[in-house]
Amino acid sequence: MPSPAPAPDGTGDVSLTVNGSPRTMRLDNRTTLLDALREHLDLVGAKKGCDHGQCGACTVLVDGRRANSCLLLAVACDGSEVTTVEGLGADGLLHPVQESFVARDALQCGYCTPGQICSAVGMLGEAAEGHPSLVTPPDRPSEGGPAALDAEEIRERMSGNLCRCGAYPNIVDAIEEVATP
Ligand code: FES
Ligand code: FES
Repeated sequence: MPSPAPAPDGTGDVSLTVNGSPRTMRLDNRTTLLDALREHLDLVGAKKGCDHGQCGACTVLVDGRRANSCLLLAVACDGSEVTTVEGLGADGLLHPVQESFVARDALQCGYCTPGQICSAVGMLGEAAEGHPSLVTPPDRPSEGGPAALDAEEIRERMSGNLCRCGAYPNIVDAIEEVATP
């Protein structure tokens, strides 16, 4: 969808569907999606870690695909559906990945956790659609179907989300529990 024409003052209206609700903001055209969510919509689940696309703390889902929101200009997302960690659950219940993170104690300080969870939800969708990873055997029997997710696959597919507390073993366990119920 083409981005709206910028106003002379360098601002523009950006319309998003965020966690199922339509939201329109007038933003400086340089505003990242992460700052739009945190500073303009008070959705502070997505975290600013590096602000350079290197840590994954800011991961959200944009039109169902995981994305580093610190690398996206909000204006470039005009018309998109955005889901943050606040919008993953439904009917007052946590998303299964959130439940699994709690059950498996897959966090320490929790700073990376919203990004880990959004990334895991996006990754599970990618695997269900059959997208391979670098460690997927080229001759896998389920070629074209859902990709099987063992711990090695999960580690590779989640390698864009860093955890400085080193909670990786439990993060992998939590995701594997959802991937292979
Ligand atoms: Fe976006 Fe680190 S804050 S990748
Ligand atoms: Fe602290 Fe991951 S739980 S950075």
